[in-house]
This record gives sequence, C-alpha cells and structure tokens, in this order.
Amino acid sequence: MSAHIIDGKAAAARVLQQVRHDVETLKAEGIEPALAVILVGNDAASEVYVRNKILRAGEAGIRSLEHRLPADSSQARLLALIVELNADNTVNGILLQLPLPAHIDENRVLQAIDPDKDVDGFHSENVGGLSQGRNVLTPCTPSGCLHLLEETCGDLSGKHAVVIGRSNIVGKPMAALLLQAHCSVTVVHSRSTDARALCQLADIVVAAVGRPRLIDASWLKRGAVVIDVGINRIEDHGRSRLVGDVDFASATEVASAITPVPGGVGPMTIAFLMKNTVTAALQQAHAQRSQPEAVCLSTC
Ligand code: GUN
Repeated sequence: MSAHIIDGKAAAARVLQQVRHDVETLKAEGIEPALAVILVGNDAASEVYVRNKILRAGEAGIRSLEHRLPADSSQARLLALIVELNADNTVNGILLQLPLPAHIDENRVLQAIDPDKDVDGFHSENVGGLSQGRNVLTPCTPSGCLHLLEETCGDLSGKHAVVIGRSNIVGKPMAALLLQAHCSVTVVHSRSTDARALCQLADIVVAAVGRPRLIDASWLKRGAVVIDVGINRIEDHGRSRLVGDVDFASATEVASAITPVPGGVGPMTIAFLMKNTVTAALQQAHAQRSQPEAVCLSTC
C-alpha cells in the first residue's frame, strides 16, 4: 500500500479563500477584522512564524499590527501591552507568539488576554469551554488537524483516535476536539507503558511529540490515517532538513492517508488563525450592537 498524501497546502488555501470571502462580507458591514501579533525576543523560528502570520493576514484582507518587545522586557511591560490591546475596540484578535523568554510566566500572561480576543484558544475560559463542548475559540493547530481528518475521512464518529503527546497547545485540545467529533480517544505520552501497542489499535493517529521520526510503520494498523504535527530540524548526510514525528517513508507503506512534513499540518495552523480572527471580529460586532446584525458567515 502507498498512502494517499494529504495536501495541507491546498486545504489551507481553501480555508483562506473562505476567510477572504468572509472578510469582504464583514467589511461591507463596516467591520474590519484586525489581529495584533506580539513577539517577545528574537527566537529564529518564532520570527519565521510571525512573518508568515502577518503575510497571510494581509492576503486575507485582515489588518495586522505587529508588536515587538526586546527579549529582556519585563513581564509588567508585556502585561501592560495586553491590557492596552484588550481595551482597543479596533483589535479583534491577540496572538502572543510562544515560547516566551524564561523570566516571563507564560500562563500568567496568557490568562491576561481577553478570552474573546484569544485567537489561539489558550485562555482557561476557552480551554474549559472546549472541554464542555461550548462554541469557543479553539487552538489553531488541532483545529487544522481536525479539518484535514474530516476532509479525508468524512464522519469521524466511532473511530478510535490515538493522540501521541499531551501538550496544552496540541495534544490536549486535539483529544477534546476528537471527542467532540464522536471518536473514542486515547492519549499516549512519555509515561504510557506501551505507547506503540496502543497506537497499533488506532484508526486515526495524531503525532505531536517533537521526536523526529519516532512513529514508524510498526506503530500503525494497516489503513490508519496519520496526521503528523511534528516539525523537527535534523542533520541528514551533512544537510539540515525538516522531518515530522512520523517516519514518512515506512508509514506510507501501511497508512491509508498521511500528512507530509513540510506541507501538511503547518499551513493549516495559520489558516485557522485567520479563521479564528474573523470569528472573533464577528462575535465582538454582535456583542457591541444592541440589535445583532444579520451577518452570517461560513463560521456561523
Ligand atoms: N508557538 C508554536 N506554536 C504556536 C501557536 O500555535 N501559537 C502561539 N501563540 N505560539 C506558538
């Protein structure tokens, strides 16, 4: 078997096309979606991610505001900026690029972001809402993974999904979204007694551990659908390149469908950030108007 390669670039382009259309609809109603992006320090990978987020926002017609703080900025300075952006009615979404410098308490500053502007879905109010199945802003990478799975498999009801990794950004919200999609969900992690044996039972595997090519064909049931969230830089025959958490070459022989790295999940994260920004703008406009307007987008 050679697996179907899931084209994340093409799927993201379709999501962004819908976002662009929704932005035009909102602008016709006098609503101009805007996203504030905060970068503290100059982590090289974060610089690339932020540049791409700002580029995609521009392409989607979303106004972006870039706030760069030096690496030695105090937590108080960052909190003051967040308070300012929370109060600014022209800003709909706030994205604080992670990781932050070690002297800043990540959880403290993420909790300071207005949950209605939390386009990353990291605020505990949104995390709690997701686990209760409420309609809240949800983290972009797992939302993108779910979209790819639904495009690939259709209805996910009753499927057994194994999520490898339990991070707050991917693993935990991914498990919550799959549960909401009526999957039976197993989360395996570094303390699981036999992660491979659990994974072999899965119809769907989402790998988000940050370990290059950990999951090879021996972890997979024949016909499994594999979503690889990992982006790991390795040295290969003296050359630097990106690989996922899945050993793509062997996994394609067993899986029925698989995302490549790069070109799989990565583009979906940014597409869903733009989608969340539009959702936030619409919800804030409804909340501000005494008579909710009859604006209804694809996100309604
Ligand atoms: N750093 C790596 N992934 C993410 C993400 O999804 N959101 C933010 N804010 N920072 C990140």
